Amino acid sequence: MYTFEIDHSLPKPELYEELLKAADAITDGEPDPIANMANVASLLWQFLPNINWAGFYRMADEELVLGPFQGKAACIRIALGEGVCGKAAKSGETRLVDDVHAYPGHIVCDADSRSELVVPVKRYGEVSCVIDLDSPGIARFDAEDRAGIEALASLLAMRL
Ligand code: SME
Repeated sequence: MYTFEIDHSLPKPELYEELLKAADAITDGEPDPIANMANVASLLWQFLPNINWAGFYRMADEELVLGPFQGKAACIRIALGEGVCGKAAKSGETRLVDDVHAYPGHIVCDADSRSELVVPVKRYGEVSCVIDLDSPGIARFDAEDRAGIEALASLLAMRL
């Protein structure tokens, strides 16, 4: 077991600094991407308040397939260009959605989700997987969350 002390009262940039340190420590030297995704999903779940889903969709044969996560059981396959995840994976760009009810094409996996942040992870310029965060709060994610998760995606690019 690994224990990380988490101070949820930290300002977001510092909370993400701590999250990145923990993710770096726990994935360092481990070559198995599924094990690393599983531990990082757990860290996201522990570190980030007010989320109801945190995890990965992996690129496999030109579609996204569910990877390790925390939260309710979710849809398994997402076509590129479909939903928030498929659009992020196809474009290679982060998607930050303040209100998923107002987002055309959003795929409902947990009816509690109201806002979503999806960040592609790129290896040698190609999307290898996406990090997906859902929250029951409207506009839960902002530019600081986006910067934090994009930094996490860069850090982990060669380990996932
Ligand atoms: N809402 C996502 C689907 C994945 S779940 O949120 C876990 C989407 O629209 O792509």
